[in-house]
Amino acid sequence: MGAAALPLPPTGSLPPLRRPDTFTEDQVLASLQNLEAIYCPIPLSLALQSPKKEKKNPRPVAPTPPVDSGYVSETENEDAENVKQALEELRCDAFERDFAMRWLTSFVSRAEEMIRIPEEARQLATDKAYCILESFTSAPDEEEHEDEGIVRDFAFTLRSSAPSPVTGSCENGISVRLLDGPLANTDHTAVGLQSFAASIILPELMCASPARFGLEDLAKKDAPRIVELGAGTGLVGLAMGHMLPHLGVPQPTPLIATDFHPVVLENLRANIASNFPGVENPPVDACHLDWSAPSRAPPLDLPADMLVATDVIYAPEHAVWLRDCASQLLAPDGIFWVLIAVRTNGKFEGISDTVEAAFGAPECPKDAEGRKLSILNIETLPKPDGLGRGDESGYKLFHIGWK
Ligand SMILES: C[S@@+](CC[C@H](N)C(=O)[O-])C[C@H]1O[C@@H](n2cnc3c(N)ncnc32)[C@H](O)[C@@H]1O
Repeated sequence: MGAAALPLPPTGSLPPLRRPDTFTEDQVLASLQNLEAIYCPIPLSLALQSPKKEKKNPRPVAPTPPVDSGYVSETENEDAENVKQALEELRCDAFERDFAMRWLTSFVSRAEEMIRIPEEARQLATDKAYCILESFTSAPDEEEHEDEGIVRDFAFTLRSSAPSPVTGSCENGISVRLLDGPLANTDHTAVGLQSFAASIILPELMCASPARFGLEDLAKKDAPRIVELGAGTGLVGLAMGHMLPHLGVPQPTPLIATDFHPVVLENLRANIASNFPGVENPPVDACHLDWSAPSRAPPLDLPADMLVATDVIYAPEHAVWLRDCASQLLAPDGIFWVLIAVRTNGKFEGISDTVEAAFGAPECPKDAEGRKLSILNIETLPKPDGLGRGDESGYKLFHIGWK
């Protein structure tokens, strides 16, 4: 029996994640087994059986192919030693490791797009990918943790027209650290546990040109208020919370990130706490708000100067609910920014068109002066490289106000 073959380096073997819809089950399994052979030298199946690390719901995993047969001639022994050493070098290669980690992170977040793979196999592959990801952060002896999601770091450069009162510079780094909730979450209504591409694009646009979004005008108001609808992990609100002090907006400006899902809200609260550690009154607050039955209880009792929402239209009724909800919350001179993904195939095909239909409908609510919430401008944006799910073909930015 010859020595086991050396696994392939991740950079040279992992299929690009540009088109997950073309992935096959065999291809995905081979890729994951290769990574497992490099980064999980102790078969996960054995590790999970150890009484010390017993898990409530251990994920099913395939055993790692043995690196050494244990029954070899002297030459084979030497070969096996060489393979072991090369494997160790591959495992310690920071570049390969970083590449593998990024690939796996994308893989788990885009699993739903792998439409050629049956759902059960996709779930198993996601579980396996998640196990490998865990092995990057935990030493073999550490206690096993429940599936706790993935920490994602986002960095933006805020370019303001006036120097920041905090740093004195017109260019300031804005960073947000988020916990994208457990990917194995079985509750499919908790989509807000993941950050969608639109929530990355909107702060990017705001940072590039805060004046265009009316953010610098907020500095002229005494007590401006901002409300985010369907906040999910809270990336937009958190990024704005970091931006506003640099724009001279009075602090603390109430920035209320809302959602209707209890699990999503819990994750959102954890993200707020971890972005403003030790801050007694963080600039971002989380609050329950259901678009279909919006509450006006505090902190939502006062009109909002700005409403923001990203990727919030994925059912036919959403646009109408959001229109009516925004009509109740938005101040007479307020602005509502909505950025949504345009989906031209799959089950959400054409849903983005419902925004224009909802705001153009005759039954649109009116304010005391007979004005309706109207779309003032629509900008179409291309899909940036490496961002967004497979069914997203681009984005639409709606500027909405009273007219
Ligand atoms: C696709 S996620 C987008 C989350 C986040 N804005 C982003 O872009 O990453 C849609 C969000 O809207 C929330 N949502 C769905 N229906 C809602 C409703 N009726 N009222 C309030 N929030 C709702 C979901 O819980 C989820 O967090």
